[in-house]
Amino acid sequence: MNKKLYIKTYGCQMNFYDSDRMEDSLKPMGFTLSDKVSDSDLVILNTCHIREKAAEKVYSELGRIRKEKAKRRKEGKNMIIAVAGCVAQAEGKEIIKRAPFVDIVIGPQSITRLPQLIANATDGKKGMVDLDFSPEEKFDELPEESRPQGLSSLLTIQEGCDKFCTFCVVPYTRGVEFSRPVPELYREAARLVSHGAKELFLLGQNVNAYHGKGPDGEAWGLGQLIRHIAAINGLERIRYTTSHPRDMDDDLINAHGEVEKLMPFMHLPVQSGSDKILKEMNRNHTADFYRGIIDKVRTARPDIQFSSDFIVGFPGETDEDFKETMKLVSDIGYAQAYSFKYSARPGTPAANREYLVPEKIKDERLIELQNLISKQQEEFNKKCIGLTMPVLFDRKGKYEGQIIGRSPYMQSVHVMDGHELFGKIAEVTMTEAFANSLSAIVQTQDEKISAATGR
Ligand code: SAH
Ligand code: SF4
Ligand code: F3S
Repeated sequence: MNKKLYIKTYGCQMNFYDSDRMEDSLKPMGFTLSDKVSDSDLVILNTCHIREKAAEKVYSELGRIRKEKAKRRKEGKNMIIAVAGCVAQAEGKEIIKRAPFVDIVIGPQSITRLPQLIANATDGKKGMVDLDFSPEEKFDELPEESRPQGLSSLLTIQEGCDKFCTFCVVPYTRGVEFSRPVPELYREAARLVSHGAKELFLLGQNVNAYHGKGPDGEAWGLGQLIRHIAAINGLERIRYTTSHPRDMDDDLINAHGEVEKLMPFMHLPVQSGSDKILKEMNRNHTADFYRGIIDKVRTARPDIQFSSDFIVGFPGETDEDFKETMKLVSDIGYAQAYSFKYSARPGTPAANREYLVPEKIKDERLIELQNLISKQQEEFNKKCIGLTMPVLFDRKGKYEGQIIGRSPYMQSVHVMDGHELFGKIAEVTMTEAFANSLSAIVQTQDEKISAATGR
């Protein structure tokens, strides 16, 4: 029977990976994707709990979905509503209390049991909550991908986090670190490539803590895994995210200089430039340690570009601390970066701290930091004008004939009239830089010669 499924995904790429796996596991039950809530027999919200705003969005979305459910009921049709992801794990049955029309609450490690819970809901069971943690089972029991996952595909290699930064919910919502075994990942990677993937994003909440069992029975690091996967024919690009500075080992750093398929871009969050705040955050490293890692990576791969995450207004952050963050950003020079206002998360150690930073000051610091980051991003984009680089074109733009892709440095690059490049990695020349993207053209052979000779 043909049934419709609507999935909305919030948060990090690992949630997007999980959403795809949920879709795969529901296909045998007759569910196909729909882009409308009103049509759907099953609605899944795959949620994020990282900041207060992210979690609140879920409840407002649930309010809208409730109305659609009521409309369908009047037409004699049912709608099963499931809340998955990190809000589900963190709030559990609280969600059912606050939104009793939700049928299923399911944690990120329990998604293999979703088909069973949906069968139970179809039989009329209500208010089901499944939050069991068992990452081994999750990956053992998930079905293979049921459709091509795209030119740029996600591959979760590691789950959970043992770092316990004092502001962060991830260790509580995703549990302890678990690394999938190398042979299983190799098979999944090879399958993704055989279905058309040219680029793989290796994912983990703390991806460079990867220590999965290799074919030799030993624990392999991320560098080893990357070298192994790089041998897959047809795979052209490898990226990984998100890394922790403490887990950047020499083998991984060297891989950046040695593995051609490993892209010259690294997201390496530092959160703050102040040693006092880093300590309070339990990051377990200093700002200079981070600078040292960046230097080492740049030595291994001189053209590499960095991105980072920053939190402003962590409890106790003074003007001096914030200046140190600004100084760190100035010293490093990012190609892009994300910054957030500190948001107290229930159950995390920092949520009980005193010396809260007033909202107004958080706002001011955020603007100041974002201005600097934007300036750096634009400067880097400008530096690329005139350069020719390989771009993986995998999206259509909003204008007729426009296609969009990613440079090796993760910049968005758009080209007009480039239909024939869609789905390919093509060499294009950057012509114009904007705050968040670049325009490029395809050069003909004659133009290339004339540019090279100046004639
Ligand atoms: N594992 C990654 C990041 C996971 S969460 C790491 O170790 O860096 C993504 C980003 O959200 C974090 O890097 C942090 O900058 C931000 N973040 C996490 N908890 C937050 C909180 N309570 N308030 C504001 N930002 C937060
Ligand atoms: Fe959260 Fe990242 Fe820290 Fe882990 S390392 S606790 S995921 S911020
Ligand atoms: Fe959000 Fe959970 Fe990812 S809290 S950032 S969806 S691990």
